[in-house]
Amino acid sequence: MVKHIVFVCLGNICRSPLAEALFKDQVKLKGLEDHYFIDSCGTNGFHNGEAADPRTRANAAEHGIDVTSISRQLTLGDIMDADFVITMARDVHDQVIRFCRNEEQREKVHLFRRFDPEDPNSDVPDPWYNDKFEEVFQIIERNTQIWLQQVEG
Ligand code: 4NP
Repeated sequence: MVKHIVFVCLGNICRSPLAEALFKDQVKLKGLEDHYFIDSCGTNGFHNGEAADPRTRANAAEHGIDVTSISRQLTLGDIMDADFVITMARDVHDQVIRFCRNEEQREKVHLFRRFDPEDPNSDVPDPWYNDKFEEVFQIIERNTQIWLQQVEG
C-alpha cells in the first residue's frame, strides 16, 4: 500500500514545499520511492500557481535539495485521499481541523513537530515573515527524518 502524505502550511511557498522536498529526499535515500505519494498545499490560495519562494529554493539548493512544487490550496480531496495530513504550525492545524467534515478526517491531521525532541508541538516559524530560512531548513530536515521513522516504524 502506498502511503499518502500531504504537508500543509499557509501559502504553500515556504514551509510545506520544503517539507515535501525533504521527505521525498529521505524516502529516495532509503529506496522507498514506490511506497510513498508525497505532496504539499496551503490553507490560503494567495500564491496559487506560483513556484516556491526564491529564498526557500536558494537555501535548499545550498543543501543539494531541489524544491519544485507549485503552490495550490488545500481541498477536501487532499484530506480524504491522504493517510497523514501534516500541519506546519498550530494556526494551520486549527484551520485544517475546522475544514474536516468528520472524525475520521480529523484523526489524520498531525502537527509536524509533534515528535521533535528539541521543542515538541511547537510551530515551524514562518520564514516569509522572519527570514530565517536556514533555521527553518534545519527544523524541517530533522522532523522529516523523524516522521519517516515514525511512519515506517
Ligand atoms: P508558508 O509562508 O505558509 O510557509 O508558505 C507564507 C507565505 C506567504 C504568506 C503567508 C505565509 N502570505 O500570506 O502571502
